[in-house]
Amino acid sequence: MTATQDRILVTGGAGFIGANIAAALIRRPHTEVVVVDDFSSGDWRNLRPLDCELRAADSDDPVLLDEIAHGDFSAIYHEAAITDTTVMDQRRMVEVNTNAFAKLLAATAASSTRLIYASSAGVYGNAPAPNAIGKGEEPENIYGFSKLAMDRIAKRWYARHPSVIIGLRYFNVYGPGECHKNEREGNKTASMMLQLYQQIRAGKQPRLFKHGEQRRDFVYIRDVVAANLAALVAPRSGVCNVGSGRSRCFNDVVAALRVSMKVELEVEYFDNPFAFYQNHTEADLGHTRSLLQWQPKWELEEGIADYIAWLDAGGRGPSLEEAS
Ligand SMILES: NC(=O)c1ccc[n+]([C@@H]2O[C@H](COP(=O)([O-])OP(=O)(O)OC[C@H]3O[C@@H](n4cnc5c(N)ncnc54)[C@H](O)[C@@H]3O)[C@@H](O)[C@H]2O)c1
Repeated sequence: MTATQDRILVTGGAGFIGANIAAALIRRPHTEVVVVDDFSSGDWRNLRPLDCELRAADSDDPVLLDEIAHGDFSAIYHEAAITDTTVMDQRRMVEVNTNAFAKLLAATAASSTRLIYASSAGVYGNAPAPNAIGKGEEPENIYGFSKLAMDRIAKRWYARHPSVIIGLRYFNVYGPGECHKNEREGNKTASMMLQLYQQIRAGKQPRLFKHGEQRRDFVYIRDVVAANLAALVAPRSGVCNVGSGRSRCFNDVVAALRVSMKVELEVEYFDNPFAFYQNHTEADLGHTRSLLQWQPKWELEEGIADYIAWLDAGGRGPSLEEAS
């Protein structure tokens, strides 16, 4: 008797988080992965090491929606989105992020397919930390709003949907697979770890907004992948935070980079040009622990050390190691 094959769809699989999820799924026994991406921000080099079926298409491609409705996939990871938070075209943002999600949701209802989707800490805007589900959900830009709108749509479906729908509100994710984000024309959107690493390796001083005291919940990609794998077996629907559960300041990031990169550079501080800026984020993980039975393992210093070793070894594309 042959073992059952899982056939799992990853939308946005050419992107940072999607490629890391796809890489982890491929390592599972009896699992086939289908990646769908429109390549608007992702990069083919993230897929180079991954033996998966690939389609260049929109995440709400009608053929794909038909396949989902017919039960062709055992589960769906929906990572595709406009991820550049400086995009201000409100209609486009909602069409790509929210409308496409609603169509996927409707298609999964017909086949009871599990849907795990990427939400964002952007839904909390500048609400006081710690950030908890159902509290301070006041996005400050259209990107954060498009994600909150997804969570609201999903919530309405929980009671009447035959399957499990899980939204993961990622905080500031960093790690292998995000190099393409620093190669975007005119707008570098990679984590500050990669931005600072590249500045330092180019012999420049690390630059921070004055005075490096802004606090963020930075979460390592390997923890994010582990949370996504936990969502594959979680028993019920819901939305939860995916962060480290701790906020660290930008100066801490530079301090950890100095140790891992063995450099002694002083920081150059400059004025923050952004009118809207999240000054303090910190994930409350209470709800996450009960929904996913997962908790983060990587401290900031450990994650940065692991990432720097990988970058220094010429790494590109997703991590191919076991999720933590
Ligand atoms: N990286 C983070 O820190 C972070 C934080 C919060 C939320 N998120 C969310 O996680 C998800 C993945 O983000 P990422 O960091 O990997 O970004 P990314 O830009 O690297 O990946 C997004 C991928 O989606 C693809 N895509 C965009 N629109 C599409 C469409 N209409 N159809 C098909 N493919 C499309 C892009 O080409 C890209 O490959 C996104 O939904 C993002 O909003 C990321």
